[in-house]
Amino acid sequence: MNSGDKPLLQLHGINTYYGQMHVLQDVELQVNQGELVALLGGNACGKSTTLKTILGLVTPKTGQVVFDGIDVTGLKPAQRIRGGIAVVPENRRLFGAMSVVENLKMGAYTQKNPSDTDLEVMYDLFPKLAERRNQLAGTLSGGEQQMVAVARALMAKPRLLLMDEPSMGLSPKLVEQSFDLIADLHARGVSMLVVEQNANMALSVADRGYVLQTGRVVLTGPAADLANDEELRRAYLGR
Ligand SMILES: Nc1ncnc2c1ncn2[C@@H]1O[C@H](COP(=O)(O)OP(=O)(O)O)[C@@H](O)[C@H]1O
Ligand SMILES: [Mg+2]
Repeated sequence: MNSGDKPLLQLHGINTYYGQMHVLQDVELQVNQGELVALLGGNACGKSTTLKTILGLVTPKTGQVVFDGIDVTGLKPAQRIRGGIAVVPENRRLFGAMSVVENLKMGAYTQKNPSDTDLEVMYDLFPKLAERRNQLAGTLSGGEQQMVAVARALMAKPRLLLMDEPSMGLSPKLVEQSFDLIADLHARGVSMLVVEQNANMALSVADRGYVLQTGRVVLTGPAADLANDEELRRAYLGR
């Protein structure tokens, strides 16, 4: 980390439970302004729970979630969203029976008047969506649905974008497109925390990474170092 880096999101000593099950254990994690951070790990290790803890959908038993210097641990999800945290959820969760443009407007519900200009910005970023603005989201291809999910999140003008397994369910070509998009957003200065099982892809675009194993951060470092760490790949990433 450079000394000039400004923390945007900090998790301090997070312990999250589902009933008796201790899912996140002493998790420490940070995303700096403008940074793209990958959160890696196998199935059921607590990746989505980490995002839910950041969003306030689950409450940690101990620990703090600090966003832009403010302790938001006690705040409701809606308050955190208004504060500038947005999410592209697992499996995208679009409103399938609503059109593309209606989905995009839902993303801006925290703003009083989502302007047509905001929509135009999204159509510039995703020309495909401009063509299909009146099509029902449920009838789009997987790649297009991914674009809607990202554009919907961006409509809220978030200061931090959380993404839960953006490559899930996409063909290899669409996975690549999806990560091109993530790299592009990063280049535009969007701060992101991207959860992935596809470690190679995520590390190819990230600045830093964290590896979770059964709810613990077992490794962290610059993405390039993690990508070249053979032992790590064998032990934790299974490739
Ligand atoms: N709402 C829930 N209630 C009980 N257990 C849950 C709930 N959500 C997730 N879990 C369990 O917590 C563990 C971590 O889940 P999750 O964070 O979704 O993992 P990942 O996203 O890394 O696959 C898993 O064992 C999962 O079954
Ligand atoms: Mg998950």
